[in-house]
Amino acid sequence: MITVIKGGRVIDPYNGKDEVTDVVVEGERIKEVGPYKGRADRIIDARGKVVCPGFVDIHVHFRDPGFTQKEDLYSGSKAAARGGFTTVCCMPNTNPVNDNALVSHYIVKKAKEIDLCDIFPIGAITKGERGEELVEFYTMKNAGCVAFSDDGMPVRNAFVLKQALTYSKSLNLPITLHEEDVNLSAGGVINEGYYSTKMGLAGIPNCSESAMIARDVEILKHTGGHIHICHVSTKESIKIIERAKEEELHITCEATPHHLSLTEEETDGFNTYAKVNPPLRTEEDVKSLQEAVKNGIVDALATDHAPHDEKSKETTMSKAAFGISGLETAFAVLNTYLVEKKIISLPELIALMTYKPSTIYHLPRGTLSKGKLANITIIDLNKEWMVNRKEFVSKGKNTPFHNKNLKGQICYTMYKGKITYERGNDF
Ligand code: DOR
Ligand code: ZN
Ligand code: ZN
Repeated sequence: MITVIKGGRVIDPYNGKDEVTDVVVEGERIKEVGPYKGRADRIIDARGKVVCPGFVDIHVHFRDPGFTQKEDLYSGSKAAARGGFTTVCCMPNTNPVNDNALVSHYIVKKAKEIDLCDIFPIGAITKGERGEELVEFYTMKNAGCVAFSDDGMPVRNAFVLKQALTYSKSLNLPITLHEEDVNLSAGGVINEGYYSTKMGLAGIPNCSESAMIARDVEILKHTGGHIHICHVSTKESIKIIERAKEEELHITCEATPHHLSLTEEETDGFNTYAKVNPPLRTEEDVKSLQEAVKNGIVDALATDHAPHDEKSKETTMSKAAFGISGLETAFAVLNTYLVEKKIISLPELIALMTYKPSTIYHLPRGTLSKGKLANITIIDLNKEWMVNRKEFVSKGKNTPFHNKNLKGQICYTMYKGKITYERGNDF
C-alpha cells in the first residue's frame, strides 16, 4: 500500500528540510520525500498545509493502571493522536506505581494492542515513589523503560538521588526530576505572590523549584550521569540550568505549553483549572522561559498532560488536584504564543516537539528520514479556533485554555502508515 501526501510544506528539522514537496509512505515506513510521479493507492492532498514528523511528548500521565476514571491508555492514545502526537512517554505515578517490570510490561503490551501511538514507559526511581528504596533499574530498562522519574514527587533524599544517578549512568538512561522542595512549597496551591495574597491561599515560591535544581546540579557534578529537569517554571531555574550547561554537565530540561503562555493571573477567581504543579508564575518568569526556548537552554517542549475527572477539579482551590490536560491544545498553544509572536520560527517549534525530545530519551523517532516509521502530522497553520474542553477525547477535560482563541490546527495524524486522527472524522 502506497500513500502519497502531496504538495505540502514539508518541515523536517532533523534533516534541515523546509520545502513544498511530497511524502511517500509504503506500508509502515517512509519510502521517500521528494517530488513523486509513481503509483499511489491513496493520495492525501496537503496543499496549503504543513507536513512534519509526528510529535513526541516525553511527559504525559495516562493514569493506567489504577486511575482509569481520569484517563486510560486508550483514551490517552486518542488524545495524543488528536494533538498530532505519535510518540509519548508516560510517567509512573499510577496505581500500582510503575516501579517493577510487571507494570512496565502491562503498559507496553496494552500500548501495542491499542496501536494508536508509541507509549514508552518511564519507570519510578524509588519503590512506590516513596523516595526510599531504589527500583531495579536494569530490569526496568529491559522491560522497556526509557528513563526514571518519581514525577509528581521530588526526590527528597539527596543520597537516594546520588545512588540513582550512579546506577542510571551505567545504563545510559536519564534521571528525570520533578524539582520541588516540599518544605518550601508545603501546603501551597498557586504561585506565591500577588494572587495568593489576594485570595488568601498558601503560595509556592520560585525558590521551591530553583533551590532543588541547585542541589541536584551539585550532585550531578559529583556523580556524572544525565539529569533531565521536568516542567521548568522559574527564571531562577533557567539561570541555574544555563550555568550547569556552561560547565558541560549532562543536564537537559523541558518546558510546558502552559508555563510558556499563561501567568498566575489565570488562577484569579479561584480557577482550579489553572491549578498545576509547578504553578503558573509571573510575566517575568514566562518571558524568561520564552527566551530560554529561543536560545536553546530549553531542550524540548513537553505537555505534562495531567488529566483529571470533574470531581477532582470542581472543588475548592485547596482541595483541587494539580494538573492540566494538555495533549489536544499543545501545538496550537505553542504556535500561538511562540511562533505567531515571533519568538521562534515554525521549524524551530517543530524541532522542539520532534527530534529534540527524542534525543533526550534516545528514542529513534522524530524525523522523516527514508526508511523510518511513517509517523507524520499534517497541520492547517492558519486555522483559528476556540478551545472547547467538551470536545476533548481525553477523559481529562481540565484545561485553562477553554474558550481561548488559538491558531493552528491538526488535520491528520499518521502512525506507522495508518491514519490515527483525521479532523472532522474524530474516532
Ligand atoms: O500538575 C501536576 N500534575 N504536576 C505533577 O507533578 C503531577 C501531575 C499529576 O500527576 O496530576
Ligand atoms: Zn511534575
Ligand atoms: Zn508530570
